[in-house]
Amino acid sequence: MRILLLGASGFVGGGLWTALSARHEVVGTFAARRVPGLVPLDLRDERALAGLAGGGGFDLVVHAAGLVPLEAAEGDPGRAHALNVRPVEVLLDAVRTSAAKVVFLSSDYVFDGTRSQYTEDDPRSPVNVYGRTKAAAEDLLLADGTHLVVRIPMVFGRSPWADTFLARMAAPTTAAQTDLVCAPLYLPSLGPALAGLWDRAGVVHYGGGEVVTRFELMTRVQRALGLPTRVVPVRDADIHPDCPRPPRLVLRSIRHALLGPDLDTALAHLAADVRG
Ligand SMILES: NC(=O)c1ccc[n+]([C@@H]2O[C@H](COP(=O)([O-])OP(=O)(O)OC[C@H]3O[C@@H](n4cnc5c(N)ncnc54)[C@H](OP(=O)(O)O)[C@@H]3O)[C@@H](O)[C@H]2O)c1
Repeated sequence: MRILLLGASGFVGGGLWTALSARHEVVGTFAARRVPGLVPLDLRDERALAGLAGGGGFDLVVHAAGLVPLEAAEGDPGRAHALNVRPVEVLLDAVRTSAAKVVFLSSDYVFDGTRSQYTEDDPRSPVNVYGRTKAAAEDLLLADGTHLVVRIPMVFGRSPWADTFLARMAAPTTAAQTDLVCAPLYLPSLGPALAGLWDRAGVVHYGGGEVVTRFELMTRVQRALGLPTRVVPVRDADIHPDCPRPPRLVLRSIRHALLGPDLDTALAHLAADVRG
């Protein structure tokens, strides 16, 4: 299969690149973070995006690019729309006449966090700009009926070029919320799961196997890796006063049985990976 991976230079995209390029012919893109072997693409360059996606002979376009930091999106909704919504319109136009199917990485932030868990049938009600841009992009993709939206939760693990999750552990202290509950997803499990889902259309959820607070996640990562980092318990409003986050986000599926690994399994793998 020939795959275009938008955002291969990012945290999630790097993990997907590792998994997908082992089995498929993958063309990956970068924007600001130059990575040898990836091709440059600015999502706002509509001609370049349309030319690459529509003219590259791809079977699949995996879209993992955009503006992800929540505070950046909250502070500049216009930029968030330009990076998270408009490129999806351009992409869909570009692949309309080709056989390429789009697999779009969406987020649990399309929900408000008031339910104990969310399935694909639950109504969306995003509480911040980032979540609203992901929901708007989903609407564009779902109008067609042939493309796939994969909602994922907070992702953790190692990534080849943008190792942003573990970078948090490089500081002497890292703050982690005791009042945000999640079912985090171990990055290496995402590639194989996507490959098992990409024949589908519509929305699917792929969540992590265990429900924890952010504080518990970071504490268990710190212990599993034997790091000196001190994980400091905080309340979310104390560190993110300007961008609301839903208090509890647990993704579950009624469309398939795939679920990411539990934390002990994931952390044993991560520790072995880090030790090399
Ligand atoms: N990380 C999570 O926990 C999480 C959870 C749920 C959903 N997701 C979704 O997963 C996807 C990837 O997230 P991530 O955490 O990997 O974010 P990330 O590390 O910030 O990566 C974002 C990617 O988008 C690219 N990008 C940014 N601006 C661009 C532009 N103007 N033109 C072209 N490409 C541009 C970046 O390229 P450069 O780095 O080269 O600039 C990078 O490859 C996003 O769709 C996000 O919504 C992530």
